[in-house]
Amino acid sequence: MVVLIMGLLGFTIGYLDQPSPYLREVLALEGDRIQGHAIFQMNCAGCHGLEAKGKVGPSLQGVSEHKSKRRLVEQVISGKTPPMPQFQPSPQVMADLLSYLESL
Ligand code: HEC
Repeated sequence: MVVLIMGLLGFTIGYLDQPSPYLREVLALEGDRIQGHAIFQMNCAGCHGLEAKGKVGPSLQGVSEHKSKRRLVEQVISGKTPPMPQFQPSPQVMADLLSYLESL
């Protein structure tokens, strides 16, 4: 039984650690920073400020220095850090946003 549970845990952790098909699609796309900025201003600026300098949410200046592309995508789509909502952007929109976040 214990072995089974350990096995299942190992499997689950291994599975969660795989980049999801969504993430792979996002990373394969060329993001457009200008487009990403516009998307950011519509969806994210209410909390992070028009130029991502922080408001209710933290400033995102230099955020890609402490978060990898993967963790940035997870931050946006996971909804795990309320009050930041869960977003479900299309892979292209996510790629554009990522490109903007990395330019900060
Ligand atoms: C309702 C307010 C709100 C909105 C809207 C929002 N955020 Fe956030 N965001 C937050 C808060 C609060 C945090 C801090 C969460 C924590 O770490 O506990 C955060 C954290 C982040 C972080 C991680 C910052 C770091 O230093 O690690 C990123 C990246 C981010 N947001 C990007 C976005 C993007 C991109 C959007 C738009 C698609 C967005 N946020 C929309 C409130 C918001």
